[in-house]
Amino acid sequence: MRKNIVAGNWKMNTTLQDGQALISEIVNMVQDEVTGSQVEVVVCPPFPFLSVIGKQLPQGGRFHLGAQNCHQKESGAFTGEVSAQMLQSVGAEYVILGHSERRQYFREDDELLSQKLKAALAAGLKPIFCVGESLETREAEDTFKFIEKQLKDGLFHLSNEEFDQVVVAYEPIWAIGTGKTATSAQAQEVHAFIREQIARAYDAEAADNTTILYGGSANAQNARELFSQPDVDGGLIGGASLKSRDFTEIIKSF
Ligand code: G3H
Repeated sequence: MRKNIVAGNWKMNTTLQDGQALISEIVNMVQDEVTGSQVEVVVCPPFPFLSVIGKQLPQGGRFHLGAQNCHQKESGAFTGEVSAQMLQSVGAEYVILGHSERRQYFREDDELLSQKLKAALAAGLKPIFCVGESLETREAEDTFKFIEKQLKDGLFHLSNEEFDQVVVAYEPIWAIGTGKTATSAQAQEVHAFIREQIARAYDAEAADNTTILYGGSANAQNARELFSQPDVDGGLIGGASLKSRDFTEIIKSF
């Protein structure tokens, strides 16, 4: 079912102690200030902090734990890797897959991401699957073609039941960490396009039920405008999720 979600991707930031202080401030502020709205908050700290941060989240409410990646295999001799099942066992409910930083720096391609998606779903995790174009692609006016291919090759191999568990995040690469946010019109245009592609690949009901998040320099100032767009169901927040006041303001933007 389509939900409003604000997810904080801490990336490779904070120490455990700083992360604990941050989440405690966020939980207190959100509990004091966010009333009425049904928005879900997904916190995605680095792997080693998941269990501890997860225990700081109030259970059964709007807070949920997410991871930033998982391995495609269930278990085995893969030194240094973390499986979806391990994440599930420490309380993670979501996992970010296909982030442009993973695609770019770790050469994750559609084939590998397809396997990771299957592994995450098999472990009962909800994937937050990221797509988004580079500046070069946008300037060449190839954005829609590019996103269509990412969805088709990376995501649309899933069955209807599997796809039901997926959250999509549109993150234009040129907007990530740059301070250059997509305008609300640019975001809406691509979100509507993504929904249309989902309707084609699955059906209108699946498209209507899919949560599509925007990511890329979203902050306390622009979140309200972005979230007011009909096809923008929330945000995947990087930098601003590391500041308790800013992150809380974003959550309050619904
Ligand atoms: O996963 C989050 C996105 O990459 C956005 O990062 O808010 O720092 O631009 P940002």
